[in-house]
Amino acid sequence: MNRDTLEANLRQIVGDSNFLSGPPDGPALVVRPGTTQEVAECLKLFHAKQVPVVTLGGLTGLVHGTHTPPHYFGISTERLNRIESFDPGTRLLAVGAGTKLETVHDFAADNDLRYGVDLGARGSCTIGGNIATNAGGNSVVRFGMTRSNVVGLEVVLSDGTILTDLRGLPKNNAGYDLKQIFIGSEGTLGVVTKAMLKLNRRPAGTATVLLALDDLKSALAVMDAMECACGSSLLALEIMWDRYFEKVSAALSAETPPLPPGHPVYLLAQAEGEDTTEQAVDSLVGALESIDNIIDSALATTPAQESRLWSIRDGSDVIERAHKQVLSFDVSMRPNQYAAYIADVEAQLMARIPDAVAYCFGHLADGNIHFMIGHDGSSPDAVRLIEDCVYDPLAHYKPSSILAEHGIGREKVRNLWRSRSSSEIAVMNRIVRVLIPLGF
Ligand code: LAC
Ligand code: ZN
Repeated sequence: MNRDTLEANLRQIVGDSNFLSGPPDGPALVVRPGTTQEVAECLKLFHAKQVPVVTLGGLTGLVHGTHTPPHYFGISTERLNRIESFDPGTRLLAVGAGTKLETVHDFAADNDLRYGVDLGARGSCTIGGNIATNAGGNSVVRFGMTRSNVVGLEVVLSDGTILTDLRGLPKNNAGYDLKQIFIGSEGTLGVVTKAMLKLNRRPAGTATVLLALDDLKSALAVMDAMECACGSSLLALEIMWDRYFEKVSAALSAETPPLPPGHPVYLLAQAEGEDTTEQAVDSLVGALESIDNIIDSALATTPAQESRLWSIRDGSDVIERAHKQVLSFDVSMRPNQYAAYIADVEAQLMARIPDAVAYCFGHLADGNIHFMIGHDGSSPDAVRLIEDCVYDPLAHYKPSSILAEHGIGREKVRNLWRSRSSSEIAVMNRIVRVLIPLGF
């Protein structure tokens, strides 16, 4: 089968209007199947022709997971965006992989429920992409990562085999739990086409407090007090260092920012009240009573006030636009080690690439911090230098990982050895060989 025949066959499967050109830096051509069966037929053809493929979701990933050479073929999940089924009794929702995260949130809200995974890119990212990366986000402290919220999957393997477990059984130890191997596999083992998600009860209300603090030590003391006072009603505990807070709040606020810039650390905590919003406020305020070095605070008790505070935390795209080039990092370690680690990274940057500016923020309760490092793009070695500045010091902080909740993608795979042993990498490669015998 030559390339022309392949393209003609693909057009036959998906229709001319779903045979498209690809995104910048990605595959030259993309198919947009409308059903699982069409995905399976396309994959069978790619398999027969030995054409490498990449799955495209919302394209919001930060690790260039879809940046392939042009001879790859893209499979877009855009049309696999149906709400397949919903059972109010079990609160299980089955959706197509191309469904936007925000659509799931809206569906849940319309049914007086909520979905546990939430993140800034909610309006563009897809459930399939969240599953591929085992995405974390802002409420991992309460609901865990994507893995903890997925109870069923349908996946198409590279040879077109459709593997389905949409039973939605909370317990099923009859053999391996195969879906787990695809969650977090970033499209390297198969294409996720459907997912069954667990929705949760919706509390009566939520409240958020933004705090300005002197240092990480104070933030850790607040975290401890919050965990104690709120227990499982703590929904999020996020941190922003000064440079991030200042840049994003200045860009977003038409009015004055909720707190002035210039303080070393900002903490954002959100709690829920099962029966009333006041319960949420009481647990947040109660937690703060025992902390005496809070410089400033802003309390939000309505959804509009809360989203004003959260827009700063979710506004990292402001940084993306503020520099010629920006590299994103997603490291994992014990929360109490961050002060020393960040100082190490800043010192390395200063010595090795002084035009680089580091912005630091993230999910303190999960021990997961993001660096966004902007630079002017003039140094040809900038990417490697900046990576070394972030990763070399990481080796002194144990346990740690170069990657907490994003994908390894194409950008970070060359650094995988820093966080996984050679035996772990060898087993990963063996799993790939079984499921993708032709490689990718
Ligand atoms: C966040 C993304 C970058 O936490 O993971 O905003
Ligand atoms: Zn994050």
